[in-house]
Amino acid sequence: MKENYYFDNAATSWPKPEPVYQFMDAFFRSHGVNPGRAGHQLAAEAEIMISQTRRLLADFFGYGGDAKRVVFSLNATDSLNAALYGLVDPGDHMVITRLEHNSVLRPANHLERDNGVSVSRIGRDGSGYVDPEDIRRAMTPKTRAVVVNHGSNVLGAVQDLKAIGAIVRESNAVLVVDSCQTAGVLPIEMDDWGIDVLVFTGHKGLFGPMGIGGMIVAEGIDMRAPRAGGTGVDSISPYQPDDYPFHLEAGTPSLPGIAGLNAAQHWFADLGRQQLGPKAAGDASHRDLCRAALDHIYGVEMDHTQRLIKTFESIDNVLVYGPRGNQPRVATLCINIDGLPADEAGAMLDADHGICVRAGLHCAPLVHEDEGTVGVKGTIRFSPGYFTDEEDIEQVIEAVTEISEFVAGRKAAAAR
Ligand code: ALA
Repeated sequence: MKENYYFDNAATSWPKPEPVYQFMDAFFRSHGVNPGRAGHQLAAEAEIMISQTRRLLADFFGYGGDAKRVVFSLNATDSLNAALYGLVDPGDHMVITRLEHNSVLRPANHLERDNGVSVSRIGRDGSGYVDPEDIRRAMTPKTRAVVVNHGSNVLGAVQDLKAIGAIVRESNAVLVVDSCQTAGVLPIEMDDWGIDVLVFTGHKGLFGPMGIGGMIVAEGIDMRAPRAGGTGVDSISPYQPDDYPFHLEAGTPSLPGIAGLNAAQHWFADLGRQQLGPKAAGDASHRDLCRAALDHIYGVEMDHTQRLIKTFESIDNVLVYGPRGNQPRVATLCINIDGLPADEAGAMLDADHGICVRAGLHCAPLVHEDEGTVGVKGTIRFSPGYFTDEEDIEQVIEAVTEISEFVAGRKAAAAR
């Protein structure tokens, strides 16, 4: 019996692969100096690790341009704010979807209320899919940015970025993608799909620690710097340099965080090597090795998800939200149990069964408005991950069955 059954990988993946812990610790001990700020050897080696991480991530995300366009930040919220405030001017128009997280909704709302920007919020179907043609219809000659959540952190629905990218490419607008729920689980082809700004967080599917995220800003995209400060280069200049990554990176970076991402990229490649076998892996690129790893990870996560869906659907008073069957999705699954407020269900799962879920609105209020789940304080979200095992799944099945029977019994007693 475990102490905890972790089903909150959509909030942060846990645990991380062992080499991530090991390399973060080792590199922080051996090279925990300020990179790029001094001429000494240790600083230069720390900078080499950072540059290598930029290259690995560019490759991982199918970005063939200069890896200096991979810029690090605190997290996806930090990069999304930088991108939206850096791209959009008063009088501009933006298109976002009603699936967005508050990391997009709130900056967009502030831009609309405080900066004279107009915002269209695109709806979706009952499973959580946006019709790319709705995006086309919403765009105007003034549309500067189209912001799309690749995978919903509530419903798990995955949007057709290729189709959306093709539409945005026909305009002067910039396509900004929030990859928080898909990076490290599904392949993302930044160049092929026409993504101009790809925002990622480090601590979810990319298996890094908290406090590191970033974005890849395609060459040719011009963005105001979110802040100004020390870069370790061109210090005589009174203003923030135009060169990347310095244009969008000021201050000392999270060296341990970047080391974590670096180790995780190597872990993906090693996993891909195991999947392909020595012959096929022999001269495969980092990108191809990682694609093989993602296929495997996604398969594992989908087995867990489909098993949970099947079980939940078989329980009379459990309501399952989001995609069904083979519809494109990630392993983020929301349910409710017969009107039981989501926070109460979450507390029962935790206290009585040791199950960690996120119950509530998941920082995505418009999804819950559209699902009609605000009144029951949102939904109960299960997000299995690559390290979820059979024992975890059994525990959830038992717990949800027990809670649903308890709720049904209570209801029947109240009706008597
Ligand atoms: N955005 C994260 C979640 O969905 C924190 O839980």
